[in-house]
Amino acid sequence: MSGPNKQYDPVEVATLDPEAVERAVEEALEAIRGAGSLEELKAVRLAHHGEKSALALANREIGALPPSAKAEAGKRVGQARGRVAQAIAWRLAELERLRDERILVEETQDLTVRVPRHRLGARHPISLVTERVEDIFVAMGWEIAEGPEIESEWLNFDALNIGADHPARGEADTFFVAPAGSGLVLRTHTSPVQVRTMLDRTPPIYVLCPGKVFRTDDLDATHTPVFHQFEGLVVDEGITMAHLKGTLDAFVQRLFGDGIVTRLRPNYFPFTEPSAEIDCQCWVCGGEDPGCRTCGGTGWIELGGSGMVNQRVLRASGIDPERYTGFAFGLGIERSLMLRHGVADMHDIVEGDVRFSRQFGMEI
Ligand code: DAH
Repeated sequence: MSGPNKQYDPVEVATLDPEAVERAVEEALEAIRGAGSLEELKAVRLAHHGEKSALALANREIGALPPSAKAEAGKRVGQARGRVAQAIAWRLAELERLRDERILVEETQDLTVRVPRHRLGARHPISLVTERVEDIFVAMGWEIAEGPEIESEWLNFDALNIGADHPARGEADTFFVAPAGSGLVLRTHTSPVQVRTMLDRTPPIYVLCPGKVFRTDDLDATHTPVFHQFEGLVVDEGITMAHLKGTLDAFVQRLFGDGIVTRLRPNYFPFTEPSAEIDCQCWVCGGEDPGCRTCGGTGWIELGGSGMVNQRVLRASGIDPERYTGFAFGLGIERSLMLRHGVADMHDIVEGDVRFSRQFGMEI
């Protein structure tokens, strides 16, 4: 027989019974597992971990136990409540993760939506060739000079020894600026910049004058009413045609390649005397191919006009022809571009389609 049960607990505390505690935990864990949303979990927490939950009530009963039973019951209930709290924390973390994932999907902004693209432009090959030519002459120590596109008739014609009865002054070639008799034209060549330069500066003069010029041609495969030229002018003591030839040879070699030379053919221009047409050796076939499409089998390509500055032009420009001589030349940029790059149709050059320009890259 056992002795008197000193630990007999007069109070029947059903809630502290290990099975009851375990059951309360199981119920709580099941409810926690079943909570499908944060709201549901909140309700489950209130029911199974709140102040009125079975385990909280059991916890409160511990106080009524005799001291000897308190520790064990306290441990049991404490562990039970700990398990429930842990399960709630895990479920909470899981439900929050699911909520965040859902929000990421539901509230996603489609940043890949197509917006109109800004297409990259391209530099026009006329600008590229002009700059390339400018660089060649600047590297030889020349300066760049520019003049206005609306020019006085005197500078465009008279000062250049193009008399009033010269056919180039007719309406068939020249755009005259209204009203009639204004004395102004759209410049038909860059040669008036020669005169402006000589009026402006004193020799030695070494200038290159690039720019737009205008003639009353219709736009077709080989003509355009607005085109570009560059004019070269040298005025110094002792300048001869040999200097002209040497300059042109140096220029075409830098533009078209080593070994290319020019030849001068007699011609007539009112502003130069003597005058010469500039031909350049064919850089495609070198004169070897009778069927060459660039030079037509001749081995030579016509580039422009040149000559020794006419003494009348020097005088009209305030330069003493007894002391100074000079040479000049004028070349078309569209023509150089068509020859150099095999552009067959002028329309491609003037139409401004970026797909055409892009082929030339940023440098040529
Ligand atoms: N000005 C001429 C033209 O437009 C080109 C030219 C020829 C310019 C001979 C010159 C030159 O400087 O010497 O057709």
